[in-house]
Amino acid sequence: MSHLSPLLQQSSDIIAERGEGAWLEDRDGRRYLDFTSGIGVTGTGHCHPRVVAAAREQMGRLIHGQYTTVAHPAMLELADRLNDVLPGDIDSVAFVNSGSEAVEMAIRLVRHATGRSNIIAFDGGFHGRTVGAASLTTSTPKVRSGFHPMMAGVVHSPFPHAYRYGWSQEEAERFCLAEFDHVLQTQSAPNDTAAVFIEPVQGEYGYYPAGREFMQGLRERCDAHGLLLVVDEIQAGYGRTGRFWSHEHFDITPDVVITAKGLASGFPLSAIAAPRELMARGRPGSQGGTYGGNAVACAAGLATLDVIQQENLVDRAAENGRLMHARLDALADEYPEVDTIRGLGLMQGMEIVDQAGRADGERAGHLVKAAEAEGLLLLRCGTHGQVIRWLPPLVADAEEIEEGIARFRRALEKD
Ligand SMILES: Cc1ncc(COP(=O)(O)O)c(C=O)c1O
Repeated sequence: MSHLSPLLQQSSDIIAERGEGAWLEDRDGRRYLDFTSGIGVTGTGHCHPRVVAAAREQMGRLIHGQYTTVAHPAMLELADRLNDVLPGDIDSVAFVNSGSEAVEMAIRLVRHATGRSNIIAFDGGFHGRTVGAASLTTSTPKVRSGFHPMMAGVVHSPFPHAYRYGWSQEEAERFCLAEFDHVLQTQSAPNDTAAVFIEPVQGEYGYYPAGREFMQGLRERCDAHGLLLVVDEIQAGYGRTGRFWSHEHFDITPDVVITAKGLASGFPLSAIAAPRELMARGRPGSQGGTYGGNAVACAAGLATLDVIQQENLVDRAAENGRLMHARLDALADEYPEVDTIRGLGLMQGMEIVDQAGRADGERAGHLVKAAEAEGLLLLRCGTHGQVIRWLPPLVADAEEIEEGIARFRRALEKD
């Protein structure tokens, strides 16, 4: 009997012993092509030699330079390096450990900085499991159910889920902007509203890019009413969509960026970033924690940025994303249960439907299991678990992408 909590469940039976690049190996030496990237974390692949070397080197010098007691060089340098890749005049970074914690820190900052209480989030958004982050989350009842009441002061506005509505992307974006205006008129007046939190590409709900008109419309409304625009780049950021930040696809500049996952190749590290003047409007002492900005995680973060830049991983994600999208589209043409492919770069979702065209989580589950038997690891998302997510590491080469698709084709044929 395992002594692990029975509430913590794995989507596979694999006990992973080691990892290298796009591959995971189990205890029996069986190799799996890992197209989950640990839920979008290992952009540089498993155990990239530069990341391993940097972490080892840091571990020999300093592991825990507790960051509300002392500063340390890896954290200072990582903040400087992030400054070079952050958008607009965003030049100030605060580190914590997980995505949820970074969302909490952003909630605290926008409330302190504006003196306003309310936050507008979007239907289908996922922002984490802690109470503030769960209060913004509506992708699934899993993180809220039995945990109510949620944090007060959060309202939800529709997100352009064109596929779900059965509308064109343009229609969905226009509708959602009109509804956003309605939310400001009816539920959360601008002078009560601190910020708008959005995933520019929704992850857990089913890989939905927000769209240009919608994101630009939100930016205009935030400017008009003095609301802060906070982008949750935790899953879609850090090169995954073929741009460094996913919001770059929509030509907007946010006020606050939240990042985690790809930031340190698997070491627990997350951050929020904002212009210094905005960060300074938060209350002194409101940022911190025991483990934030861990020295080994920051050293891994520096090596991660080196790898992304030196191996051109953002361009590669765009190029291999086009390849992957074309191959997945071909599967959608061939197999009736693959209804549509959606996403950007190396973040693509595959909608699985039954014969009547309804979301079919059961079939998607079988397909993921069958793919595992072929040595391909995939995850699911969506309201019914009907979306198979394709999240290879950014270091995967074209051959590995083709190999993954070939394995999935075999799964489709056999299952
Ligand atoms: C967009 C987004 N925000 C927040 C989170 C929460 O991050 P964590 O699980 O590190 O708390 C996730 C995790 O999947 C996410 O995808």
